[in-house]
Amino acid sequence: MGLYEIMMKRRSVRQFEDTPISEDVIARFMDVVNNAPSGGNIQPISVILVQDKEARKELARIIGGQPWVKNAPLSMIFCLDFHRIKRWAALMETEFKGEKALPHFLIAYADLMCAAQNVVVLAESLGLGSVYIGTIQNNPDEARAYFSMPDCVLPMMLLCLGYPKSVPNTIPKLGREVITHREKYQAVDDEGLKRAFENKYGEMESQTEKYLEKAFIEVLEADKQDDQNWTARVKEEMKRLEIRNNAQFLFKVRYPSERMVRMNDGLLRSWKKAGFDFF
Ligand SMILES: Cc1cc2nc3c(=O)[nH]c(=O)nc-3n(C[C@H](O)[C@H](O)[C@H](O)COP(=O)(O)O)c2cc1C
Repeated sequence: MGLYEIMMKRRSVRQFEDTPISEDVIARFMDVVNNAPSGGNIQPISVILVQDKEARKELARIIGGQPWVKNAPLSMIFCLDFHRIKRWAALMETEFKGEKALPHFLIAYADLMCAAQNVVVLAESLGLGSVYIGTIQNNPDEARAYFSMPDCVLPMMLLCLGYPKSVPNTIPKLGREVITHREKYQAVDDEGLKRAFENKYGEMESQTEKYLEKAFIEVLEADKQDDQNWTARVKEEMKRLEIRNNAQFLFKVRYPSERMVRMNDGLLRSWKKAGFDFF
């Protein structure tokens, strides 16, 4: 299979076999992390490999209880790491101030995601599945404490990997033409815009389970692996808020807009605690 086919068949996987991942494969993952592009080739990242069962359980709790995190045989915590560079700079009688410089921070985060995506693609080509867990950003204090991260090290992304037990069929995406702009940005009219998202999600299904398969597969998966009644709670919320369309579902139920804005404060507080201070 060519690289295009591998990348086009990739889906986020949330059901993993217990089969461990060999040291040889892990070494290759770390090679493609290390060989990823990096702004200025500064390489401001570190990866913590988590395989221990107790640690996986704790990691799953820290990120908010998504069950595939404890079930995946390998988790890679991608950390933005200015600690190493700062110490090296000081030893070399100069100063690195990335923790106060937003441009350094943004480029480091871009580096980190380039490296993580290298692993995603390599994993897929080796028959493994993966899923990113962005909610590690919601609780950096606990993640930093549990995994002994020093000042100026921040967990920015988690990637869980393993041999897939099951892979989701299809996941709706926008049409290629919607995201493609030739030479200049071309804004669409309102009808075109609505059509683009309708084509992605389809009409709101009267059957909620079927709808969630397209719009929030995580809750269905979570209920298969855990007994926390995620689906029932989401359905309840949809009813309470009288959700009538996909956008309302996304920004009232799944990512309530006001709550998302309120999260800024906690995030900035945690970053400051970790030694990052841009504002
Ligand atoms: C930045 C980022 C954060 C994500 N966070 C989570 C997460 O916390 N839990 C999860 O199950 N999937 C997470 N995902 C996976 C997305 O849900 C998934 O990519 C999306 O539904 C599209 O499906 P696909 O990856 O199969 O194309 C994340 C993906 C990205 C890129």
